[in-house]
Amino acid sequence: GGRPVHPETQPVKSRFITFEGIDGAGKSSQIDAVVSLLRAQGRVVEQSREPGGTALGERLRELLLHEAMHLETEAMLMFAARREHLAARIEPALAAGHWVVCDRFSDATFAYQVGGRGLARDKFEALEAWVHPGLQPDLTLLFDLPPEIAAARVAATGAAPDRFEREQRDFFERVRAAYLERARLDPARFCIVDATRSPASIRADIEGVETELSALMGSRWNWRLSHVYLDAENKTDGTMLDNR
Ligand code: TYD
Repeated sequence: GGRPVHPETQPVKSRFITFEGIDGAGKSSQIDAVVSLLRAQGRVVEQSREPGGTALGERLRELLLHEAMHLETEAMLMFAARREHLAARIEPALAAGHWVVCDRFSDATFAYQVGGRGLARDKFEALEAWVHPGLQPDLTLLFDLPPEIAAARVAATGAAPDRFEREQRDFFERVRAAYLERARLDPARFCIVDATRSPASIRADIEGVETELSALMGSRWNWRLSHVYLDAENKTDGTMLDNR
């Protein structure tokens, strides 16, 4: 057998981490904290968001958030912005061994366009297979909470709601259900965060996950945090992730 290698001495591999959830889930305030944490550990982190992340993508975002359009136009523009984002930023960063932390990715299209609006699944799957065959995030933090709590948070910001934020509760129920379905389809990738809790409590959990991830560097995430919430889930090796 070879010399045991301490995980921290192994070369840093690129990681692609996404944050998802319905509007008002509170993910945005956590992303900055996670990125700061990763940078403090010496990792090179590319932070971005979708739709957006590039000059063209940000222009598409303006259209997507404010112009009425056909459902399929909306889905294709989401993936057009994503294609640009992948080519210009995500793929080069991952190829360079950097970490990419992105506010939303294709799970959002599944949740909002398929779940919320009723886009045909096969059309979503065709676009996904076209735009990023073989690529999925290594880890997706899904901020889950009831739409009524999320809506109250969105209203409390006082900002003018965009085209999505103006949708009604039943829309967000469908979006939430689609996110949870997507998580069930790929449980090894998803970490579902109970987003009804305070920002400080959520942040403490996420920092705990990051510590676990550091210890696992060099291997693919080999822990499962699926439809059970973060503070009660087992890793695949049988040890508990206890961040309470
Ligand atoms: P977000 O960045 O969360 O907006 P905010 O700046 O208000 O936090 O997301 C923008 C909106 O775009 C959000 O309502 C979800 C929607 N969206 C989709 O419908 N499909 C997608 O594929 C993506 C990436 C976002």
